[in-house]
Amino acid sequence: MSEATHKDISWTDAVELASPHPYVLVTTVSDEGVPNVIGIGWFTITSWKPPMVCISVAPPRHSYGNIEAVGEYVINFPPPDMARAAWKCGTTTGAKVDKFADNGLEPVQSTRVRPPAIAGSIMAWECQVVSKMDTGDHRLYIAKIVATRGDPARTAHLYSIHYRELVAVDREAGSVTQVEYK
Ligand SMILES: Cc1cc2nc3c(=O)[nH]c(=O)nc-3n(C[C@H](O)[C@H](O)[C@H](O)COP(=O)(O)O)c2cc1C
Repeated sequence: MSEATHKDISWTDAVELASPHPYVLVTTVSDEGVPNVIGIGWFTITSWKPPMVCISVAPPRHSYGNIEAVGEYVINFPPPDMARAAWKCGTTTGAKVDKFADNGLEPVQSTRVRPPAIAGSIMAWECQVVSKMDTGDHRLYIAKIVATRGDPARTAHLYSIHYRELVAVDREAGSVTQVEYK
């Protein structure tokens, strides 16, 4: 066995080194019907069949109260030209501002859940929470995806570099090494 080239690094450095990480805008709604948007980096698909996903949300977030109350959320994939608004959604709170109005975002009716989707997003995944789990300082919301709507022609997505900046990655334009697997 060869000698280790790794060295011990801090958890902060480890998370940063895992960048870029896909960045999405998650829409929620309060029981009274007031919508909100939060920038989320901690999400992943958890099952192919049935389609399942999860997001990790910290209790101080305004969005946390909405998800607890309504049990639904929509994962919106923002295009590069939505970057400035998308960043604001990850750095301001719906407890104090209307992130739709302030950032030129337009809510559009979802098909199967109460929270709206965001007009102009690449895709919107409509989700219903089926299970939750506290994992430390965040709560994991595991959800069934009940509708997937989008625009297959648009391929550029936003990724975050740690918690500093957003970059656009386009699978059509990048340098790609094709691998074959059987
Ligand atoms: C790149 C990036 C990724 C983020 N990912 C998460 C996340 O996965 N979970 C979370 O609870 N907050 C995350 N945040 C922080 C929230 O988006 C931020 O606290 C936001 O202001 C909360 O909005 P709200 O209070 O309206 O819900 C992230 C912020 C940035 C900039």
